[in-house]
Amino acid sequence: MTAWEQTADVLIRDVQLRRRVHELAREMERVLAGTKQPPVLVGVLKGSTLFLADLIRSFDGHVEVDFISISSYAGGGQSGVVRIVKDLETDIRGRDVVIVEDIVDTGLTLNYLRQTLADRETNSLRAVTLLDKVARRIVPVELEFAGFEIEDVFVVGYGLDFQGRYRNVPDILAVKDIAKLANDPMLLVEPLFLEKYA
Ligand code: PRP
Repeated sequence: MTAWEQTADVLIRDVQLRRRVHELAREMERVLAGTKQPPVLVGVLKGSTLFLADLIRSFDGHVEVDFISISSYAGGGQSGVVRIVKDLETDIRGRDVVIVEDIVDTGLTLNYLRQTLADRETNSLRAVTLLDKVARRIVPVELEFAGFEIEDVFVVGYGLDFQGRYRNVPDILAVKDIAKLANDPMLLVEPLFLEKYA
């Protein structure tokens, strides 16, 4: 077994991702049909960027896009508390807003974002995630659209990273041995980008 095979598995192939993202766009269009102004899709940096790019390309009608960046911090001994690092440029008052996430894990980030954006008096507020790791949830959170429910495995690729790496891998990979990767964060670079693992 190669070092690559010992460390990661392909969980969702790019072709499956494309198909599901296309379906999600259709589901969202049905729900958002008839809005007075184009819906505003809010990408949560940085993980959602690839998903958002494919999602909006699948939309038939107009959409607007903005980005928000959240930082988790452990200030005051409260782990899981988040703050806004980069806010929206769009005034979303009266608009139909969809938060776009790559993954919902504990739910803390989405919970915070929903509360924060709801205070801005949107006409409607919804959320879509590509991956939903339900088993890890520590706060219940509303999620109108979800691409794939996944088990409690560490995932990289298609926007998701490990220490900043692997976001540009086209498939979603499940990391089997996270300790090994933590010990050598470059471990998957060679099989992924040089040898073409697939
Ligand atoms: C990830 C993901 C969500 C959040 C979900 O972001 O993009 O925003 O974690 O986790 P939660 O449900 O436990 O709050 P991350 O902090 O890894 O930043 P990134 O998107 O820039 O990689």
